[in-house]
Amino acid sequence: MAAAPEVTGSRIGHPMSTLRIEGGHRLSGSVAVSGAKNSALKLMAASLLAGGRTVLTNVPRIADVFTMIEVLRHVGATVAFEADVMTIDASGELRSEAPYELVSRMRASGNVLGPLLARQGHCRVAMPGGCNIGSRGIDLHEQALGRMGASFHFDRGYLEGVAPVLAGKRIVLEYPSRGATENVLTAATLARGRTVIDNAAREPDIVDLAEFLNQMGARVTGAGTSTIAIEGVESLTPATYRVPSDPIEAGSLALAVLATRGEAELIGARAQDLDVFGGKLADTGARWGATERGIGVSMRRRPVAVDFATLPYPGFPTDLQAPMIAYLCTAEGTSIVTENVFESRFAHVAELVRMGADVRLEGQQAVVRRVPRLEGAPVRAHDLRGGVGLIIAALSADGPSEVREMHHVERGYEDLPAKLRSLGAEVEATWGDDEVWMDLPQVSTTRDTP
Ligand code: EPU
Repeated sequence: MAAAPEVTGSRIGHPMSTLRIEGGHRLSGSVAVSGAKNSALKLMAASLLAGGRTVLTNVPRIADVFTMIEVLRHVGATVAFEADVMTIDASGELRSEAPYELVSRMRASGNVLGPLLARQGHCRVAMPGGCNIGSRGIDLHEQALGRMGASFHFDRGYLEGVAPVLAGKRIVLEYPSRGATENVLTAATLARGRTVIDNAAREPDIVDLAEFLNQMGARVTGAGTSTIAIEGVESLTPATYRVPSDPIEAGSLALAVLATRGEAELIGARAQDLDVFGGKLADTGARWGATERGIGVSMRRRPVAVDFATLPYPGFPTDLQAPMIAYLCTAEGTSIVTENVFESRFAHVAELVRMGADVRLEGQQAVVRRVPRLEGAPVRAHDLRGGVGLIIAALSADGPSEVREMHHVERGYEDLPAKLRSLGAEVEATWGDDEVWMDLPQVSTTRDTP
């Protein structure tokens, strides 16, 4: 995370640079899972649809959330963030732009496209370009909103959209893109008439977004299935909503525990969000199951290899591909992993090989063969989930490791070193010199370092 330009305000902290990990400690105990990154970001963007004060609770204090605060403030909303409670006031005139500086830092900044188009009739969103996991177009967003009456043109790196009137239409998405589903869903809440999205994304965060919109007065049905219907309404009013727990954080912590042959309870996690993933863990010989408070996991022996292919929900989540590969490195047998969602989401593999893993890439597949053990080494995170994969490998490896460029991991995991330590891991974080500031007068300053 780059230092914010201004230094008048509240100190958010320093970006983490390195996590030192002494491998080989069995993780056990219980740990609370934070609010979901990919829900919180969408709910924050959707709050722009209503003039007035939206309150979100259980919001994780992660770098991407702070980036979205900057986006909302750039647009003209007032944002306060105290502990895990965020208040967003989007009354008054808004500016309909998501600038390149923020979109290039975090693609989810583009989630303001639907709300701004619906409320302002205009939006200007920087084209995200590629990122460390693939080229990631926004053509599906553009086509779908185009069918509803928006017209788009490109202007010096920006996608500019105008929609004096948005009209409900039947939209068949070529691919169940989460981002496109979300932008159409939010735009359709204030459109004229009925919109139907076919082949919609079905992720739990789409269901949360729809529930939040309905609490604001929208009329959305079918979220969680591949057909979502939205009856447009005249206006929306602000709501209060609790961000659900993060399924990807839950899956990542589960793999950290299982890779060290440990046992833990993930408090607040929802097993039903992770059925296919949980089933695969069970196939490796791990225990995985819902408890009264969350999810219980344990593993006492070497896992058995499994094949898996990433797919849109309810398939195996691409966001858990790297953590799962790390866990499978010492599994008995050979695992074949197919990445179907992103074109280049294997940057962690070369780093795992530096730790002694036997993983070969063949196009969109990784072939993971058993090695007796991983060895600690200095490695570099290239992206958020790949970085967590390396941490999982390092926790299970012999000897010390250093995971560098931890700012990638801080984008999406709240207090990860503290959570791992509470489970018995020996980890030590170091922070860079650049302080990150944000002018958030009501923000809690109790948390100096992330
Ligand atoms: N795609 C297109 N054109 C489009 C939209 C998508 O070609 O107009 C392609 C993308 O390039 C990608 C695939 O479709 O290859 C999936 O994209 P999707 O739109 O479903 O993903 P997203 O909304 O950009 C969200 C998550 C990602 C997660 C993916 C897939 C957020 C903020 N991001 O991205 O999360 O991997 O869905 O489940 O919700 C992460 O948290 O680490 C992360 C990358």
